[in-house]
Amino acid sequence: MKLIDGKAIAAQIKSEIAEEVQQILAQGGKRPHLAAILVGHDGGSETYVASKVRTCEEVGFQSALIRYEDDVTEDELLKKVIELNEDPDVDGFIVQLPLPKHISEQKVIETIDYRKDVDGFHPINVGRMSIGLPCFVSATPAGILELLKRYAIETSGKHCVVLGRSNIVGKPMASLMMQKSDPGDCTVTVCHSRTRDIKKYCLEADIIIAALGAPGFLKGDMVKEGAVVIDVGTTRVPSDQTKSGFKLKGDVEFDEVAPKCSFITPVPGGVGPMTIISLMRNTLLAGKKAIYCK
Ligand code: GUN
Repeated sequence: MKLIDGKAIAAQIKSEIAEEVQQILAQGGKRPHLAAILVGHDGGSETYVASKVRTCEEVGFQSALIRYEDDVTEDELLKKVIELNEDPDVDGFIVQLPLPKHISEQKVIETIDYRKDVDGFHPINVGRMSIGLPCFVSATPAGILELLKRYAIETSGKHCVVLGRSNIVGKPMASLMMQKSDPGDCTVTVCHSRTRDIKKYCLEADIIIAALGAPGFLKGDMVKEGAVVIDVGTTRVPSDQTKSGFKLKGDVEFDEVAPKCSFITPVPGGVGPMTIISLMRNTLLAGKKAIYCK
């Protein structure tokens, strides 16, 4: 069994990005600028956004954090999105999800200029991704592809089972794994909360990507010998072993599953650090106008 060290790969990519930023600046170019909108005080979102802003500093990007209370109106938020769309200094921005119930996430996402949509959530980016055109690919799937690539994990012709059908991970992941590319070229099965006998599909999988948000869902008896298991789950569960009183638990029962795997990602330290680094890479691409010229 080989542990996929997302933390180490992310650190490597972080220094590659930092080096490129220095080159851009040395040539008189503009420092890439990422803005993040955070609504409310959800513990998970606070942690993620703080980490995104910190990573911006580490790679040499400019960053801006725009905060609103839970009772911000949809109109007010949309106005800020339009302002960021029009601000020539901002190369890319994100609106951290989830948003409070009275705000339509879809409306917010569709208001973001797709050329600044470094999360890759806008329907134009999703559509372009699904037919293999240059676009911003959403960060978690992009990070997983990068892990598969850097660990030289063979995917062509393999059966990949994606657990979960979210717009952020499950759907784009399934689409990318079936793409005619490397990594890719898989036969893909998507399982979700209504799938009957998930275990049957998992036992047939060469690669399992678990993104259900159900802590410890994938058990040892659901995985065949030699499978590659990628754990996207990051549920905060109470813990008396940490200072914060929480720890992150993945969708995979690691101790049972790991001995059967050829490769597996841990939680934390697997997919999580790659998600943030993929956002940084998208921001660099946005800064360089590498995908969309304007
Ligand atoms: N909430 C959970 N993951 C993400 C993400 O990748 N981007 C945004 N904007 N919100 C999220």
